[in-house]
Amino acid sequence: MNGSAAEGAARISARLRELYAVSDDPGGLTRLTLSPSHKRAVDLVSRWMQEAGLATRLDPTGTVVGRREGPNASAKTLLIGSHIDSVRNGGMFDGPLGVVLAIEVLRRLGNLGRKLPFAVEVLAFGDEEGVRFPTALTGSRAAAGTFDPAALDSRDAAGVSRRDALTAFGCDPAWIAAEARDPARTLGYLEVHIEQGPVLETRGLPLGVVTAINGASRGEIVIKGVAGHSGTIPMHMRHDAAAAGAQALLAIEDVGRSFEDLVATVGRFDIPNGAVNVVPGAARLSVDVRSPSDRDRALALKAIRTRVQAIAQQRGVTADLAITYDMPAAPCDPALMQRFERAFARQGYEPFRLPSGAGHDAMAFRGRIPIAMLFVRCRGGVSHRPDEFASDADIACALAVMEDYVETFAARA
Ligand code: GLV
Ligand code: MN
Ligand code: MN
Repeated sequence: MNGSAAEGAARISARLRELYAVSDDPGGLTRLTLSPSHKRAVDLVSRWMQEAGLATRLDPTGTVVGRREGPNASAKTLLIGSHIDSVRNGGMFDGPLGVVLAIEVLRRLGNLGRKLPFAVEVLAFGDEEGVRFPTALTGSRAAAGTFDPAALDSRDAAGVSRRDALTAFGCDPAWIAAEARDPARTLGYLEVHIEQGPVLETRGLPLGVVTAINGASRGEIVIKGVAGHSGTIPMHMRHDAAAAGAQALLAIEDVGRSFEDLVATVGRFDIPNGAVNVVPGAARLSVDVRSPSDRDRALALKAIRTRVQAIAQQRGVTADLAITYDMPAAPCDPALMQRFERAFARQGYEPFRLPSGAGHDAMAFRGRIPIAMLFVRCRGGVSHRPDEFASDADIACALAVMEDYVETFAARA
């Protein structure tokens, strides 16, 4: 029995709830890359893939790959994926929706005994958020053939290298290069994701087709001042690293406001060894800059560097900005987007296009393998929060469109 899209959506949301409970934080969802909860999620998702008739393996970056073979060895492969890592105290839908929905599409096609003229791989990436290490997208970049081995030397806050974390996870980084998919043998990469913004809800639409994913830079500013006794050092003799950091934060916000469609965020501000009675001797700030224009993003980073140096000089501290992650904007493939629009129309939904302000695994395939993304409306545009929500009705729309997409792709391939 295959059942309706509504039954499929109910299965998807039940599985999303099950996955939401797989967390390293008993009070909410925290599933950072290569953590114990990521391992449990890998096991659960592998089981669901196997039940859907897929052959599973864990790749050398910690991605679960579920493969359904094509009719013969020369058949090309369609990739469908998203991620199963989360931010700290995140929501149920960011990432897992795309993975669980893809598994459901293949489960249903398998139950119907549908043969496809190509192979399909469902990819459950484990490093999209980039919260644990200063680098990200290692799984999707490995599949795209753009993995940078320097990411293996990046370290988390506890000093553990990605190389060691991968090895402890049961992965062998020596084989990462072999994950690169051959563009000549790959039909494309599709990803379903919640919008994480308010546009679809404002328009009263359940789904949208993504036009492009904004480029992003991430980095860290380390400020070094002079620590001292908070009771004895007169104000005019201080070199307070946290005060300089606060001023840098406001300068970064100001730069973000000065470019159209660009956003700049300090999401973390640490005062190492901070105490109530100590003038801060050091501060660390994360920096995240995104834009649809790679040129504007480069100009904004330059402006941030200049402003932060001026603040440092004025306060007699040092400030270093190191960029740890840099992804150019990724346009979606016009032909794959059109296929989405035709599937929308056949399923009775209004085709609507919008850009993605959030980053996605899809962007790793830029310039290598054509990408397309389907966005699903989320309540209040809320994401990266426990109250992130997409309704079963909207998930059913996405399931119907994706099923139609894959079957139609098969008919025309
Ligand atoms: C991931 O959600 C990102 O856009 O940072
Ligand atoms: Mn995501
Ligand atoms: Mn996210």
